[in-house]
Amino acid sequence: MCGIIGYTGSENAVPRLLEGLRTLEYRGYDSAGIAIFSEKNSLTGIKSKGRIENLEAKLSYFPDASVSHCGIGHTRWATHGEPSDINSHPHGTPRVYIVHNGIIENYAELKDFLISQGYTFSSQTDTEAAALMIDYCYNLTQNPADAILSAVKRFKGSYAIGAVFSSEPGKIYAIRKDNPLIAAISSDGCFIASDLPAVLKYTDNYMRIDEGELAVVEQSGIKIYSPDKTEVKRDFKKAEWDVSCATKGEYPHFMLKEIHEEPTALFQTLYPIISDGMPNFDSAGLNDTRLKKFKKIYVVACGTAMHAGLVGKFIAEKMARVPLEVEIASEFRYKNPILDKTDMVIIISQSGETADSLAALRLAKQCGAYTLGVVNVPGSSVAREADGVIYTHAGPEIAVASTKAYTVQLGIMYLFAFRLAYAHEKMDSSQLRKYTQELITSVPELIHKILDTQSECAAISKKYKNAHSAFFIGRGLDYALSSEAALKLKEISYIHSEAYAAGELKHGTLSLVCEDTPVFAFAGCADLLDKTISNLREVRARGGKVVLICQQGFQVPSDSYDDILYLPSCDQMFTIFPAATIAQLIAYYTSLELGRDIDRPRNLAKSVTVE
Ligand code: G6P
Repeated sequence: MCGIIGYTGSENAVPRLLEGLRTLEYRGYDSAGIAIFSEKNSLTGIKSKGRIENLEAKLSYFPDASVSHCGIGHTRWATHGEPSDINSHPHGTPRVYIVHNGIIENYAELKDFLISQGYTFSSQTDTEAAALMIDYCYNLTQNPADAILSAVKRFKGSYAIGAVFSSEPGKIYAIRKDNPLIAAISSDGCFIASDLPAVLKYTDNYMRIDEGELAVVEQSGIKIYSPDKTEVKRDFKKAEWDVSCATKGEYPHFMLKEIHEEPTALFQTLYPIISDGMPNFDSAGLNDTRLKKFKKIYVVACGTAMHAGLVGKFIAEKMARVPLEVEIASEFRYKNPILDKTDMVIIISQSGETADSLAALRLAKQCGAYTLGVVNVPGSSVAREADGVIYTHAGPEIAVASTKAYTVQLGIMYLFAFRLAYAHEKMDSSQLRKYTQELITSVPELIHKILDTQSECAAISKKYKNAHSAFFIGRGLDYALSSEAALKLKEISYIHSEAYAAGELKHGTLSLVCEDTPVFAFAGCADLLDKTISNLREVRARGGKVVLICQQGFQVPSDSYDDILYLPSCDQMFTIFPAATIAQLIAYYTSLELGRDIDRPRNLAKSVTVE
């Protein structure tokens, strides 16, 4: 999960490359680099460990940086070799430089071969082996396109590569396998990029580059070739997102902006699926007869998207009385799952590019199962490869910690569960309409109410910011939410936090609760409130501090909590939405108090396109 960008045109390339890299930083941010042609067409690579500002500072020593019209850039999330100047991209030789997103799995083998051919290596990266293999092939073919196409035949693994050759100033070559890549055209030139937001400031005309295709990008336009070098005709598309999506606007962080976008994102996601007041999945090939026939339904995903699946499981099983299994994609793909054409596999993925989720999708298809992608990025790999797709319309999510994408994934899971219940005759049409209406109109309002009182979350965060450990507990739906709440806090604040079923804490984990350990308890559902309260007393009896998050109007004994945050009163089935927003705000404000890099937490990347 690195980000790549390239520009060739009449304008100065470097500001465009840096701008693109800043937008792509969510994909990795431990080092950055560019390769540019000078005015006299010589090729230079400049790279630096750390953030893009370090690279920018270095560029002031390179006069070419202010006059170049063509170059490629890279922002890195280290996989092979620590973050360092040497390991930063671009890699290559005076003849060719490349930037790469992905992993070349057989790099050691390639390296041995290249060393036997007289090459020397300076970095610990897999990418250097790819770069030198392209150089080796170029030496044989004297043709950049042939060099790239023959080199990639030797690569095992995944890649999106941008390459420049000193023999062809002004031209960028790009190719991909299992990692995203787009090409775009503006009034002054053309781009390649890992993702659309990187170019939105300059253009909204783009095209996706398909698996194995080679793109040749010049100022005048973009040509796409299939692996056998036949030209492929492809029209440009208009971007669905505009440039404001990729900027923070009035907010100090993308994360806070994205939390505030939740009510709108939820409405925009659900509205297109509703027809005649009911959720309708016909466009994804799912009518009621088909929905009823599936023997097994799985949700397979990673991280936050998998947590949305846990909520989906609870709602589907409760409403439709149909079992739904949730699997972690990296496990599912290697467990030889029991699947056939009578089954359905739902892949939830914000990016639509997560390597494990994509592999799980491909496996499910091989087994003959019907696959449904629930995806936020239009035209992404999961969207294109799944049998059916439902888009979440959250707009680009830039902060590494996922917030609005989770909320809209929950929305889809609810609508799916409702329709499944209807198909199985566990819900009649008037109930289905009522729940659907509530989800689309009342739930965004519930989230708004939390946003209006976010200072209360900020105050709780301030109080518990110095905790070494925190627990999130709940029962039923609230337990499903706890997993996401704990992930949110740990990923951006670096406070160790875990989720537990409220009734399970006493079976071992209670030994970790001591004075000052905050235990955040979600209790949105009245029917389980008394049971949860007993568990809270157990925590307080050991000196732990309880922050209770429950519905306004619940009668809660005052000896069961230290602090309380209220959810607006509503049908208990929907409290998870405002409760999720509270969890996200607590994570946000805690990290703010601690001075963390909220949008770019250490060691992480947003789009994980490696195993
Ligand atoms: C990364 C991100 C998480 C995300 C997960 C799955 O780990 O940091 O926020 O939930 O990948 O990503 P996806 O794009 O498939 O939803």
